[in-house]
Amino acid sequence: MTTNQGESVLSLSGPDAATVIKEYGQDSLAFYTRCAREYGEIVPIQFENDLFCLLTNPEHITQVLRDRKLFIKAQDVQMLETFIGNGLLTSEGSFWQRQRRLIQPIFHQRRINTYGETMVEYTQRMLENWKAGDTLDISQEMMRLTLDIVMKTIFNQDIADGDAGNVAQALEETMSWFVEKTNSLLAGDETRTPADKRYEDAIAKLDETVYAMIDDRRKTGEFGNDLLGMLMEVQDADDGSRMTNRQLRDEVATLISAGHETTANTLSWAWLLLGENPDARTKLDEELRTVLQGNPPTVEDLQRLPYTTMVIQETLRVCTTVTDVNREATEDCEIGGYRVPKGTTLIISQWVMHRDSRYFTNPEVFYPERWANDFEKSLPRGVYFPFGDGPRICIGKSFAMMEAILLLATIAQSYHLELVPNQVIEKQPSVTLRPKTGIQVVLKSV
Ligand code: HEM
Repeated sequence: MTTNQGESVLSLSGPDAATVIKEYGQDSLAFYTRCAREYGEIVPIQFENDLFCLLTNPEHITQVLRDRKLFIKAQDVQMLETFIGNGLLTSEGSFWQRQRRLIQPIFHQRRINTYGETMVEYTQRMLENWKAGDTLDISQEMMRLTLDIVMKTIFNQDIADGDAGNVAQALEETMSWFVEKTNSLLAGDETRTPADKRYEDAIAKLDETVYAMIDDRRKTGEFGNDLLGMLMEVQDADDGSRMTNRQLRDEVATLISAGHETTANTLSWAWLLLGENPDARTKLDEELRTVLQGNPPTVEDLQRLPYTTMVIQETLRVCTTVTDVNREATEDCEIGGYRVPKGTTLIISQWVMHRDSRYFTNPEVFYPERWANDFEKSLPRGVYFPFGDGPRICIGKSFAMMEAILLLATIAQSYHLELVPNQVIEKQPSVTLRPKTGIQVVLKSV
């Protein structure tokens, strides 16, 4: 859509350049929140030579997220490309469309239901190493558990086995490099560091390991029932082609990175919020006792655990794991009657929208009950979207919801996680929102 009508977004008021640099660097979440409250629905934010616009009108948000051609993924995901290559998260255009069409059926609820048992079994294994009275960092435990699960579902292997372990190590190296690099680039420092070399070595190891696994499966002709096997199996309905080794490697790396830290952090925040809200924890316990009666949860139980589900929905509102999604305008266009120049980055912030008092009563309060009676359906589109929206909505949404509910239920059946008093828990928005220095809890038997 090209338009010359209407005023430019640059005519709208927004923060000045000095404020942007100072406040964004200090606390980007607070900065976006203040911009939304003080300036209005479209807030131009000039950062050096680039124009960003924060959108806070749900209709504008939906317009942008629905139109994947006019609005493409912005630069921030491009930094991840050396690791996840041209996988679903980063690719665009007809290539993305083909890949999404091929991969979508693999994430169909019926298919992913088969992973429910693995999720509970791995959680029980983790619990065997816990005992009442232990103090532990719950975010580290959740990270390790979801990594174990994603490795098992993709490769049908345990991390203790060499191949999956190599991949897991590469992932850890990548994530710490990413945080370090983003910080130094923000500070204007582009010098090469030893971390860059470690990162490149990790990628080389990842490539070697994943290609070897693919080769082995091609040689035997047995692709397997795990996600890698399914990715190898799928065929394009138009020309019968299958994914190349490079595409498989990129999609596998994408699923590992998109699929483990997100769910781990969601669970970490859920434990924090439950620890801070004993009433919610009591209600959770009641539901688990009544519905499960001491048995481990199964996929069939998911429909019968509405309160547990609401705890996750509310966690994804109060501490949204993905704090914002950004899009770049590929053409001059119009949003809300204002001209938006080509190249503008549109900032769509779940953090801001999920805490907007126009839609949520007492938005700062953790109150799972608000999701009862199909509350979500009563919200305008573009208000609550922890998994994004439009054609590029999270492909792993059902997988993630199932995993979060099953893990939360399994752990809560055995332990209360009491927060260690007086710890400072700082929210760090990186690739996902994470507790900067973890969350320390003491285990108490239920
Ligand atoms: C609580 C957990 C999760 C959250 C909050 C989450 C959130 C998101 C969001 C917001 C997007 C859209 C990004 C954008 O529009 O720019 C996205 C995309 C994606 N997610 Fe998730 N995600 C979660 C779990 C998972 C899991 C478990 C998987 C896979 C196993 C996964 C795989 C993906 C992929 C491949 C995409 C890219 C889809 C595309 O562009 O076609 N995610 N996720």
